[in-house]
Amino acid sequence: MTRKISLTGIKPTGNLHIGNYFGAIKPALELAKEYDARYFIADYHALNIMKDPKELSALIREVAAGWLACGLDPEKVVFYRQSSIPEVFELTTMLMAFTAKGLMNRAHAYKAAVQENSEKGGDPDAGVNMGLFTYPVLMAADIILFDSDVVPVGKDQVQHIEMAQDIAQSVNHNYKQEVLKIPQALVSESVAVVPGLDGRKMSKSYGNAIPIFIPETQLRKLIMRIVTNSQAVEEPKDPETSQIFLLYRLFADSKEQAALASRYRSGGMGWGEAKEELFRVVNRELAPVRERFNAIIADPAALDRVLAAGAEKARPIAAATVRRFRRAAGIE
Ligand code: TRP
Repeated sequence: MTRKISLTGIKPTGNLHIGNYFGAIKPALELAKEYDARYFIADYHALNIMKDPKELSALIREVAAGWLACGLDPEKVVFYRQSSIPEVFELTTMLMAFTAKGLMNRAHAYKAAVQENSEKGGDPDAGVNMGLFTYPVLMAADIILFDSDVVPVGKDQVQHIEMAQDIAQSVNHNYKQEVLKIPQALVSESVAVVPGLDGRKMSKSYGNAIPIFIPETQLRKLIMRIVTNSQAVEEPKDPETSQIFLLYRLFADSKEQAALASRYRSGGMGWGEAKEELFRVVNRELAPVRERFNAIIADPAALDRVLAAGAEKARPIAAATVRRFRRAAGIE
């Protein structure tokens, strides 16, 4: 039986943290059990906002090493860099011919930029490059090129998937045949919200994140910095409202969770002790991941070979889609 195809797009952002780990990386890697899973690093998307070559190339390697360290198996799935697949850009150009400019005008990211500029009273398009404006077309090409059935995304990306559907449908409608597969968004409702060091949702922009790959001593320091209330050691404590416990849940098995919850409730345990216990389980999970990451990042040539092998697997799939479209379009 042929399996359905999932496609995960990875933005090269640095410093993956445990919010990404539980919220995006783990669920995306789970897809490989059920789907013919494909993953790619969206490096040309990043170029729209990142113009420093050193920074960009380091980030691309870091994020690739990060996903591999977290368990992405390049033998079992297809893992490549967007920039290694020239067909992405060929398809983008073809899709442009089927994309209404008005559709792009309505894209959230572009609209937000225009609104911010207008509020400042300046040129509404200030700082907006064509890459940003046409981002949804490139993203549609990423998806459609690989015959994706499902695309796991956060709610903020659903509009982009709808645009990809719109664009693919206008192609199919024009040629009166199913030239392109129509993708579906896979929005997970049940993904854990990971609390950060200050109790707000963990996010790089809040500065409250615990990075996945930091050395053990730094990991301990960060965990010790988790904000707590001023309850004394002997007081009974409520695990449900403690972000130490909420984090603990993500890393501990059910027996450990029950044991720590009961120590909370019976009193006699200070926050320092709870943090030590949290550190123990976090480090238990992250130590091997960190070790793999350090080994991968230390050998960039080997990493590049992994990505090149992934591109080799990806290109024939991409070429077939472009060929189909070109034939339908009368460009052979
Ligand atoms: N736009 C996505 C994000 O901001 C990244 C992305 C680019 C993507 N192309 C994609 C995601 C294709 C899924 C499929 O996170």
